[in-house]
Amino acid sequence: MNDFVSSFWSYWIATLALGGVVFCLILLFSQRVWLKREIDQVEDTGHVWDGDLTELNNPIPRWWTIMFILLCVVALGMFVLYPALGFGPGVTGYSSAREVRANQIELQERIAPIYARYAEMSFEDVAKDAEAREIGQRLFLNNCAQCHGSDARGAASFPNLADNDWIWGGEPEQIIHTITEGRHGMMPPWGSQLSPSEASDTAQYVRSLSGLAHDPMRIVAGKRHFDAFCVACHGADGTGNTALGAPNLTDNIWLHGSSEASIVQTILNGRENIMPPQKNLMTEDQIRLLAAWVWGLSNNDGNVVAAAN
Ligand code: HEC
Ligand code: HEC
Repeated sequence: MNDFVSSFWSYWIATLALGGVVFCLILLFSQRVWLKREIDQVEDTGHVWDGDLTELNNPIPRWWTIMFILLCVVALGMFVLYPALGFGPGVTGYSSAREVRANQIELQERIAPIYARYAEMSFEDVAKDAEAREIGQRLFLNNCAQCHGSDARGAASFPNLADNDWIWGGEPEQIIHTITEGRHGMMPPWGSQLSPSEASDTAQYVRSLSGLAHDPMRIVAGKRHFDAFCVACHGADGTGNTALGAPNLTDNIWLHGSSEASIVQTILNGRENIMPPQKNLMTEDQIRLLAAWVWGLSNNDGNVVAAAN
């Protein structure tokens, strides 16, 4: 069973588990009086308080000893039945991971009929359907809002999903792919190729692409660096490449920030940004519906409904 740990840790777990039981039994037997019906003579400890309050050293009661031995027997039984020793699954073959999987499958079967209706509808119709939007919003609030915000408008380094500006593409299949498989945005660092002042010139040029305030003298050198190091991913005109997740640098929509300091930091140190895959957390039906909801945020012709409303 690959669910189970092997070698050293198996022995470690077995030693702790069996050792605990053996230790309890040794402790009981070491008291020797463990099953005697009558106790001949009770020792006293020699401690006396208030003149006549004597501390006795009575043995452990018989019922208590028997109960403890029974518990040890139960424990040994559990070791045989369940995967308690770190070796193999035990006689019952129980596995909590399998139980979770079974519960997941049961849940998926229960919700499948709710989604069946949407499987037959086009993506655009799902995005407009009132009930589907309610479900989508709830899925979003439960699974996505912690990063993208309850209004889906994102925050620094977490993209706005309601602005119809897409790092990885806004076509239905692209959004479904983003949610299913996740995305890994990687801007490599250029600190070894560009000095801080060269990076700063480049940042001036990048700002000029969006029409932000910039120094017209410095963007000449900046464009030279951009053409040498940046066009491979961001394109000659800076409009980006959704296949690489390289953002459009000309639209004045910023993932990490538009200040010169922030752009210089991006250039010198690079950026790494992860959208976690959801395929093990949601069914395909749920992902399609959620993708339609996200798509609808910026495509439902003026009918945009922010998630928090
Ligand atoms: C742990 C944080 C986190 C969670 C949770 C998360 N995302 Fe993301 N998501 C990100 C980050 C970060 C990016 C940007 C990745 C990049 O920079 O390339 C992203 C990108 C995206 C994109 C691509 C945006 C674009 O412009 O192309 C979509 C769509 C998206 N997320 C939808 C979702 C949905 C739907 C959920 C809920 C199932 C979700 N995300 C959950 C962090 C998260
Ligand atoms: C290998 C591809 C690649 C190259 C080359 C590259 N970038 Fe990037 N760049 C990316 C990716 C991918 C991201 C998005 C990172 C993320 O998801 O966080 C990015 C992000 C950025 C951002 C952040 C945009 C925002 O909205 O906050 C800036 C600015 C930027 N790049 C500028 C540059 C400059 C200037 C150069 C040349 C010195 C350059 N890039 C070279 C791939 C690249």
